[in-house]
Amino acid sequence: MEPATLRRTMGRFTTGVAVVTTVSGDGPHGMTVNSLTSVSLDPPLILVSLTTGARTTQAVADSGGFAVSILSCRQEPIAMRFARRGEDHFAGLPLEYGQHRVPVVPDALAHVECRTEHEIPAGDHVLFLGRVVATCDREGEPLAFHGGRFLDVVGHGHDVPPWFF
Ligand SMILES: Cc1cc2nc3c(=O)[nH]c(=O)nc-3n(C[C@H](O)[C@H](O)[C@H](O)COP(=O)(O)O)c2cc1C
Repeated sequence: MEPATLRRTMGRFTTGVAVVTTVSGDGPHGMTVNSLTSVSLDPPLILVSLTTGARTTQAVADSGGFAVSILSCRQEPIAMRFARRGEDHFAGLPLEYGQHRVPVVPDALAHVECRTEHEIPAGDHVLFLGRVVATCDREGEPLAFHGGRFLDVVGHGHDVPPWFF
């Protein structure tokens, strides 16, 4: 299986876009992710898959916790900023702090603060299962990612259906 083939194939699966942030000994770190998954409601667990060796991956491992900011449709520049390897992702950005002193992205649709429950090496990534310790959210349009491009989500306009699971 060619990596480019798998990337293209999985790129057919549309996702939201989020930024994982944390604070380690050398300050705040953060990276754009679309591997965010809701895992369990009771206990409350979410999962992110972070590239082995990335600065933010190391910082999340060192700090024992992380926050996730779910981006709105107006935050494509934030998604691009936190995806540039080797740059200071926080340069000139006003920091907002979550309840547990981890910086979060201002004006995001939601903030989820976690402490790491399990850290699982998986191929060229590390899976971080986070126990959710605080959340906040607001109404708004999300930023989506499909086929390597950012896009807006167009709703079907009907009422919110009851959940089936
Ligand atoms: C839309 C989008 C989604 C991404 N999703 C992930 C992801 O889920 N996991 C990951 O490790 N990198 C992901 N990346 C790449 C990282 O954001 C990028 O490599 C980042 O600069 C790494 O952070 P660092 O500079 O702290 O090492 C994604 C990039 C984009 C643009």
